[in-house]
Formats: sequence, C-alpha cells, structure tokens
Amino acid sequence: MKAAYVVDKEKVEIRDIPVPEIKDDEVLIEVRTVGVCGSDLHLFKGTHPFRKPPAILGHEVAGDIVKVGNNVKNLKIGDRVTVEPHIGCGECEFCKQDLVNLCTAKVAPGTTGWNGTFAEYFNAPEKYVHKIADGVSYEIATLIEPLAVAVHAVDRITVKEKDTLAILGSGTVGLLTLVAAREMGYKNIICTDTQEFNLEMAKKQGAVLTLNPLKDDVVKEIRDFTNGRGVDVALIVADAKNIVDQASSIVRKRGEVGMVSMITEQIPVYPYNFVFNELTLFGAMTYETKDFVKATEIVNSGVDLSDFVTQVLPLEKSQEALSILSEKKENVVKVIVTTNTK
Ligand SMILES: NC(=O)c1ccc[n+]([C@@H]2O[C@H](COP(=O)([O-])OP(=O)(O)OC[C@H]3O[C@@H](n4cnc5c(N)ncnc54)[C@H](O)[C@@H]3O)[C@@H](O)[C@H]2O)c1
Ligand SMILES: [Zn+2]
Ligand SMILES: [Zn+2]
Repeated sequence: MKAAYVVDKEKVEIRDIPVPEIKDDEVLIEVRTVGVCGSDLHLFKGTHPFRKPPAILGHEVAGDIVKVGNNVKNLKIGDRVTVEPHIGCGECEFCKQDLVNLCTAKVAPGTTGWNGTFAEYFNAPEKYVHKIADGVSYEIATLIEPLAVAVHAVDRITVKEKDTLAILGSGTVGLLTLVAAREMGYKNIICTDTQEFNLEMAKKQGAVLTLNPLKDDVVKEIRDFTNGRGVDVALIVADAKNIVDQASSIVRKRGEVGMVSMITEQIPVYPYNFVFNELTLFGAMTYETKDFVKATEIVNSGVDLSDFVTQVLPLEKSQEALSILSEKKENVVKVIVTTNTK
C-alpha cells in the first residue's frame, strides 16, 4: 500500500509498504480521508518532541472496515468508521480510571509499532473504533478527532453556570470548541482570532461576539459585554504570549481558565489575577473515550461542519497539504487528504 512519510525536514515521500497485519482484537480500515493537524506540522518541520523522520503522518481518519480480527464483536466488514487514535497500556493508574489520554505508556499512530493514518490502510483495536452515520461524509467524520479535543476541554470545566464562555483563538480546535460548547449548552460564546476569516466562521457557528486582538481591546469589550462581571470561563486555544494574562483578565471571580493550547515555552504571567479573583487554571489533554463518543454523536446528529473543510487533496499531494497548513497563505481551517476514492 501507499503511505506518506516525512523523510526529512519539510520533505514528504510516498512509499510502498506492506498492508498492516491485524491482531485478534483489531480491524483493518480502508482509509478514505485523513486530516492534517498541527501536530503533523511539528513532525513535518522537525519540531515534534518524539516523532522523528522517517515516520508516517497522521492520526485523524475515516474509512471502511475491510477485515476484522477473530475477537472483534461489534464491528463488521463494510462499517464506516473513525478511530480514537491512542492505545492505553491498560495497567497504569490512569488507564484504570479510563484516562487513556494520561496513560504514561500510551501508543499513538506514527510511533513504534503503529503506522500513522496517511496510508491506504490503517489498523486499530475495536475498542477505539467508532461508527459514523450513513449521512455523514468521510470528510466531516475526519473532524471527529479534533472535535473530541474540544469536547474534552469543555467537559473539564467545573463552573456550573453555562452562561458566558470566551474562546481565545478560533482556529480548527477553537472553532470546534465553539461547536462543542454550543451543543453542550453554553449560551453566550465569545470568540477571538487575529484572522477575519476565522471570526466570520465563528459568527456563522453562533458566536455572540467576535473580537480581533489586533483591532479590538479584548479585555474591555468582554468586560463591557458582561456588564463588568467577566465571563464564567475562558478557554485558551491560541498560542500568543499574552494569552494567559488576557484570559485571567476577562474571567469573573471564582471562574476558570482552561489551557488547550500546547505552549511549550516560558510566557509571562501575572499571577495575582488568579489570587485576587480566586480563579482556577486547568489543562485539557486530548480526550477520554467518553469525549470521543460525544464528539461522534455530535457529528452523527448532523451538525453542519462543511465550512470547516477548506482544502481537499489526494494522498500523493500530502506535501502540498502540509505546506498549505504550514504557510497559511490562503484561508484554511482543516485540510483533508483523500485516498482509495471510488
Ligand atoms: N490539548 C490538546 O489535546 C490539543 C489538541 C490539538 C491541538 N492543541 C493545541 O491547540 C492550539 C490550537 O490548535 P489549532 O489546530 O486550532 O491551531 P490553529 O493554528 O488552527 O489555530 C490557532 C488560531 O489562533 C489564532 N491566533 C493567533 N494569535 C492569536 C491571539 N493573540 N488571539 C486570538 N487568536 C489568535 C490564529 O489566527 C489561529 O486561527 C495549538 O496550540 C495546538 O497545539 C491542543
Ligand atoms: Zn489532531
Ligand atoms: Zn496506561
């Protein structure tokens, strides 16, 4: 089968490799669509903490089951599916609480022993495979994985009021966080982004207020919108240096700030905001299976996410697909790569 490898810095090569063998608890999926994600860009640019070339890209996928292992019970050949792309060790204290996202020995696609999804076939254990509804296209089903990130972030909130939520950053994950929060009952969702295109998308998906930090005084506008009180929760989904201070300045007393962004450098923080207003800061790392199930339900219910698929390219053009997301010269939310198209 064909598979797209990152072989060197910003160099992708299509290689011919054997179709993966499946274990008794696994299924083999004929891949239709894969999503390009920010973490693929880290592998592409050589900045990923543990994925190093040569490695097959990708962890977002949708396709059809073409083979099932002997112990597979609830899936059959022909099922249209997506995959929750991690495998827990099953033994550690986190796996025992169904927190695969925090497993200290979890395996992810594109690491040892498990191919990435940028290939014609992909194997996965039954317990991490989720069925997609007939009416949902493969392209849209590919968004279930990043939507699960969003569902998890919203689910980590412990503030009871679902009145006001600010999402700082409306890229792929930020926009899907808006969708998740809306579907999970949040009433007034405010979105920020430095790109007008992304703010337009946020408006279309129901944001009550959109702000561009390059033009607007975000803190003042949000304070005014909430009559001085501040929002119940702010979720950080952009990587700017001032983003934690901005979040802690717009949240009401006893509110929460959630960190979804993977900021891997020191940034300045004014801690007193957290003390004076008794704020809580929490992190959100990928998803638990229950979040993936919820994200699948949201997509299967038919919400319209079609605007989010901004580019579609064949597997052979994986290099170009990565460059589009990397360079962002054109408006882009999610780039999809297709294979085995009929
Ligand atoms: N926690 C997790 O499990 C998880 C999973 C996936 C992605 N992430 C992280 O989430 C972040 C967002 O990912 P993404 O795929 O949506 O990236 P993205 O590049 O699509 O989105 C980031 C958005 O932030 C906007 N932005 C830049 N500066 C801003 C500012 N000052 N204020 C508001 N918006 C600003 C950009 O215009 C862009 O639209 C990244 O850090 C990524 O690594 C985390
Ligand atoms: Zn992803
Ligand atoms: Zn574990």
